[in-house]
Amino acid sequence: MSKKEQIRLTVSADKVSVPIYVGNNIYSYVKTIVSLKEYSKVGVLMDKNVAYHWGESIRKVLGKNAVYIIVPAGEENKTLTAAGNILASMLKHGFDRKSLLINFGGGMICDLGGFAASTYMRGITFVNVPTTLLAQTDAAIGGKTGVDFNGFKNMVGSFAHPKAIICDSLLLSTLPEREFRSGFAEVIKHALVADKKLFYTLAKENFGAMDEDKLAEILLQSCSIKCSVVSKDANERGLRKILNFGHTIGHAIEMLSHDTKKPLLHGEAISIGMIAEARLSLLSGLISKEDFKKIEDIIAKADLPSRISKSYKSKIYAKMMGDKKNERSVIKWVLLKGIGKAVIDEEQSEKLINKAIEYILI
Ligand code: GLY
Repeated sequence: MSKKEQIRLTVSADKVSVPIYVGNNIYSYVKTIVSLKEYSKVGVLMDKNVAYHWGESIRKVLGKNAVYIIVPAGEENKTLTAAGNILASMLKHGFDRKSLLINFGGGMICDLGGFAASTYMRGITFVNVPTTLLAQTDAAIGGKTGVDFNGFKNMVGSFAHPKAIICDSLLLSTLPEREFRSGFAEVIKHALVADKKLFYTLAKENFGAMDEDKLAEILLQSCSIKCSVVSKDANERGLRKILNFGHTIGHAIEMLSHDTKKPLLHGEAISIGMIAEARLSLLSGLISKEDFKKIEDIIAKADLPSRISKSYKSKIYAKMMGDKKNERSVIKWVLLKGIGKAVIDEEQSEKLINKAIEYILI
């Protein structure tokens, strides 16, 4: 495997140019891809699970001069307190403006580490080495960093791009099946909002038994969609909003689930959110019954959830009202106009929204 970049995220307006390397057993290239000797200090941020599986291997690559910062796993730990602990650790170890932070983990680590790096001394360089399918296809790319705050998802954060992104399929080999599956929600989302052809390719796939080459090909296509959208609208003034499909209801459900004994993974909540928002698209006459059925079928085929307990019913709407995507207290929806096509900034009546929510309750 050569260490050639496969895709590049370029945002000309912001002078952003991020190489993305995709391959198998390439995480160790981090040493050369970013030329570590240029940095005064190198930190590696991992959660406990990643440290358990990969800590020793990454220590062999980076040696004992790197600083290893280990944080508790789970989205519920993506907090300002956790970010503060990382900043304190960097300060304690003498990180300066010429230091580097490597975020080695899932979406939570990329968001949290990116936020800490982008605020430490007003911003130091960071690299993302995403270790979950979800982070490789979505969270690690595009410069959104942040933490959850006061019960709201990604409420405090910044736009800051990593210097490079290394997507290594080998790192997916230690992922629990549930985590792995959850990543397909964002791949399906990319297809639904921007790529009809990818949707029909996915619809034929056996998600549970995809060979490595097929997975790499799909990952590459999914990352390319993300790059193409972000390159045109990095700061989410317009087009990038399509990537929030499923996330208005999905984020509300995800955050509410953190207060229960059965917290949902991000991809699981987004999968239920996509069903509800596809239902809203159907109720608004934007998509046909046939397309809606195809969306339900692909979610079922990927073994992702599509329903949530009716105990959530009264809470979802209130939670959505606090979403940062709203403008002047009005929810702005991303809806589908067909498979592979999305519309943004749609307003909907409370009656129709509740009907769509009703659909996902059991
Ligand atoms: N995950 C959606 C975005 O990056 O815009």
